[in-house]
Amino acid sequence: MPAIVLVGAQWGDEGKGKVTDLLAGRVGYVVRYSGGNNAGHTVITPDGQKYALHLMPSGALSPNTVIVIGNGVVVDPKVLLDEIDGLAERGVDVSRLLISGDAHLIMPHHRALDRVVERYLGSARIGTTGRGIGPAYGDKVARIGIRAQDLLDPGILRQKLELVLREKNQVLVKVYNRKALDAGAVVQEYLAYAQRLRPYIADTRTVLWRALERGEAVLMEGAQATMLDLDHGTYPFVTSSNPTAAGACVGTGIPPTAISRVIGVTKAYTTRVGSGPFPTELFDELGARLRRIGDEYGTTTGRERRCGWFDAVVARYAVRLNGITDLVVTKLDVLSGLDKVPICVGYEIDGRRVDEMPMTQTALHHARPVYEELDGWLADLSKARTEADLPAAARRYVERIEELSGTRVSVVGVGPGRDENVVRHDLLP
Ligand code: IMP
Repeated sequence: MPAIVLVGAQWGDEGKGKVTDLLAGRVGYVVRYSGGNNAGHTVITPDGQKYALHLMPSGALSPNTVIVIGNGVVVDPKVLLDEIDGLAERGVDVSRLLISGDAHLIMPHHRALDRVVERYLGSARIGTTGRGIGPAYGDKVARIGIRAQDLLDPGILRQKLELVLREKNQVLVKVYNRKALDAGAVVQEYLAYAQRLRPYIADTRTVLWRALERGEAVLMEGAQATMLDLDHGTYPFVTSSNPTAAGACVGTGIPPTAISRVIGVTKAYTTRVGSGPFPTELFDELGARLRRIGDEYGTTTGRERRCGWFDAVVARYAVRLNGITDLVVTKLDVLSGLDKVPICVGYEIDGRRVDEMPMTQTALHHARPVYEELDGWLADLSKARTEADLPAAARRYVERIEELSGTRVSVVGVGPGRDENVVRHDLLP
């Protein structure tokens, strides 16, 4: 059995947890490869219980799945321990968790800097989740980060933290007029976390190689999404890691040749939280309707999501960039009841029609969507389980997504419940 990558094909919150649900129990390992507790996924178990996870891989709720936090993830130990405790309180055994010794830790100075830098940017702010994600990745690249393995060596932890705080405290105090952090207190706090996290810290890449060699299936679970990728997204309005399929290799140590499928998840419309260009955004009652019916409020921050129509330029870009073999289209039911459903098939930029993602950020800011209007449908879709159960217009909408994006749609979500799907093709090879 191979490695399978799961990626968001838009700006996040596409419903990736739903796909992990579909595959749960059929894969031996679920590994997260990027981001941190900026993510938020809701998983609904067969007995109807709802769990909101931020850092834990969503396989946490499948009792026989090993759950792995890969080296590409940034870990806030307090958040992780709170999630472990929250799951344990509800009877979920998390002894199957492994954390890469190479994963970087989110430290108090990262959270402090994330918030203060955003304030400083004013109207140019990114709209981050304020969880310290960007500063933690910044320190990783600057080679002054602190890793999970440093929790195993108190002397090293103290030495690294004292060194880094010497500089960060200068910045906090002298540039941003904040209080300095006390290195001793932070070390004590993190050593307490170390006591509890020690059993989970492991050489995860070897564990994953061995699993693949034994023929077990490994699901590489993306957080955030294609358009939030640091290199390929709408920079600078992006996250600070690589949520795209290539990032799955870097963030786990699994080689590209082990990957046999890339599953991309997209909503039947589009949402985005935070700042940045979003060509099909709706500012009228139709946008408010999508937000209301789709319940479009952030799992992590509770912020209202910006809503708009499906953008096939983004879909095509995501398919080519990630090598998506199967698309999962979620929330098709939210579009029921519309007379016409517009799909953005290209952009008009400064008087020119373009079908590809423009090269410059300025051009994307100027992009006006070119819409094709498809017939809507009135029926409630939630009971549909096969393609034949869908109204003809809804089927046509899905087929048009296939044609425009350039890959097959394997699953269509028709409601929030874990079985509320139309499965057209099996997601596992
Ligand atoms: P950061 O990842 O907290 O630095 O935030 C950077 C940008 O990514 C902001 O626009 C966030 O709203 C967005 N973002 C980060 N994580 C998610 C997510 O899981 N879903 C949707 N947007 C996200």
